Amino acid sequence: MLRDPRYRRAKQRVAELSRKMIEDRNRAAADTPPAILIDDLLRANRENPAAMPDQDLMISVTGPYVAGLDTVANTIASFVYAVLKHPEVLTRVRAEADALFATGSITEKDLRGIPAIRGALMETMRLYPIAVVHMRTATRDCTFEGHRIAAGETVYVGTSVPHFLEEFYPDPMRFDIDRYEKPRAEHLRAGAYSPYGRGQHVCLGKTLADVQMLVTMARMFHRLDMRLPSPDYLLARKTTPTPGPAMSFHVRVDGHRHP
Ligand code: HEM
Repeated sequence: MLRDPRYRRAKQRVAELSRKMIEDRNRAAADTPPAILIDDLLRANRENPAAMPDQDLMISVTGPYVAGLDTVANTIASFVYAVLKHPEVLTRVRAEADALFATGSITEKDLRGIPAIRGALMETMRLYPIAVVHMRTATRDCTFEGHRIAAGETVYVGTSVPHFLEEFYPDPMRFDIDRYEKPRAEHLRAGAYSPYGRGQHVCLGKTLADVQMLVTMARMFHRLDMRLPSPDYLLARKTTPTPGPAMSFHVRVDGHRHP
């Protein structure tokens, strides 16, 4: 993947974006208090370059974009595809979305009462994870399950592998939105479900992302009458900067179901 020209282009674009963000902020900062995250990072870089070296600035200023935007955008696009691909799921998602918006504003409690939309989101994140592995660098020599790992070696932890294993998810390739409700709760077995990662660096934005995606999907399916270009349409996928539907993915909007 690292030799793929698309990966190099994506990396160049991120580098350009970070340069532009830093330049823009340096220019604007004098007249635009209060300080935002980038100002704190730039100050740390100026005052304590050992703690915030130049080479870490790029990922620090662009990280929130990649972490918070590309992830959600790719997951939402996969959700739209998966739901439109399964008409029985579409019917249930629409019914819940219509009931959700029937009363006006949405509360946190309302979001707990939409098992079909939540199940469709969880199933989307199981089958179309945007973080398929975690990369870690060993800080010291160690042995794991009989494999020797030397300090400095990169280890790939296949956090999404259990998502596709029959031992956790019967008929694992089936898009089955009822896996997550009790008594089945297939995702609760140790290590079975990690779309937001594992351990100390588990996603910091996961609660925000869940709310954002549930509300956006409910609203879209409430308002729009969407369909795939054809019933046998198959999703093409891309891998960079995060895995997700290819840019060629599109849907047809036949009209508005509700204003
Ligand atoms: C579909 C949505 C999202 C998914 C699937 C997702 C997934 C992940 C994963 C797998 C990690 C762990 C990476 C690792 O350990 O190497 C992570 C970390 C992180 N995510 Fe998310 N993320 C999502 C949305 C968001 C949003 C909306 C935000 C911010 C508003 C966010 C902020 C972060 C941050 C700051 C970290 C780093 C945490 C740390 O290193 O301690 N993410 N995310």
